[in-house]
Amino acid sequence: MVILLKTVIGLGNSEKLAKDIARKSNAEFIKASLQKFPDGEIYLRIKGKIRKHVYLIQSLNPEPNSALIELIFAAKTAKEIGARRVSAVVPYLAYMRQDRRFRKGECISAKQMAFLLNNCLDRLITVDPHLHRIKSLKQIFKIPAKKLSATSEIAKYIKKNFNKNNSLVVGPDIESYQWAKRIADSIGFNCAIFLKKRFGSRKVKIKVVKELDWKGKNVIIVDDIISSGNTMIETVRELKKRKPRAIYCICVHPIFAERAYERLLKAGAKRVVSCNTIEHNSNKINLSRVIAKEL
Ligand code: R5P
Repeated sequence: MVILLKTVIGLGNSEKLAKDIARKSNAEFIKASLQKFPDGEIYLRIKGKIRKHVYLIQSLNPEPNSALIELIFAAKTAKEIGARRVSAVVPYLAYMRQDRRFRKGECISAKQMAFLLNNCLDRLITVDPHLHRIKSLKQIFKIPAKKLSATSEIAKYIKKNFNKNNSLVVGPDIESYQWAKRIADSIGFNCAIFLKKRFGSRKVKIKVVKELDWKGKNVIIVDDIISSGNTMIETVRELKKRKPRAIYCICVHPIFAERAYERLLKAGAKRVVSCNTIEHNSNKINLSRVIAKEL
């Protein structure tokens, strides 16, 4: 008889992934029951017996603010009803991009989000957090915070679905180097990293700084996040001028704000593929195995 020592609780945004993680890590799965009162307040209940170690699975998207509150309430409740250790798997960690006071008086949201989680969790596990000006999770988290990466699973997907002799990998900006270049190198694909200038949250300009032999090739654009989609859309537009065979987009975190998915297909992407850090129809790369290993 297997004695289960872990409870995996799926919160509102990540139930499907939570079930899969529980199966793969030999943990018991519990669904948290969540409702909203007419005034918008959250009601949360953890039903069932919890084990010593509780893992809460919750992506901070969509609706990052209520997702964060659900996570905090669930963590505190789990402790109060008997958990000895409460960890959270937050596949998409929101607020990481506001990592500096760009203008006087601005809130450094990454720091404040971490402050809230530091005060209710014993451990955090996340996937490819947007580390840019904050270089390491240690800079903002006091609790042990583990960064997992989707790169090996994305590399496997590309290797299985594309041929390196007629496909190229592109990173739309310098920050995507850590995904695009690493993935391409690990499977022997040619890669180019472009330059991006951002003029606001919805306006970017892409500069092709390295030309490859694009004509007739499959081009695979890889980035961590697709939010407004404009980084990918502008990259697709630049690439289309170079007459490739087809353009594919792959991301770790499919936020797809403001119909970004549909706009990206309309701009000319043949297929948009994502990892299941945020539930979406485009989820073709399953990270549950990578995550379950950490539990
Ligand atoms: C930022 O530099 C990230 O790596 C992504 O490129 C960015 O978050 C994508 O945002 P959007 O889809 O809004 O252009």
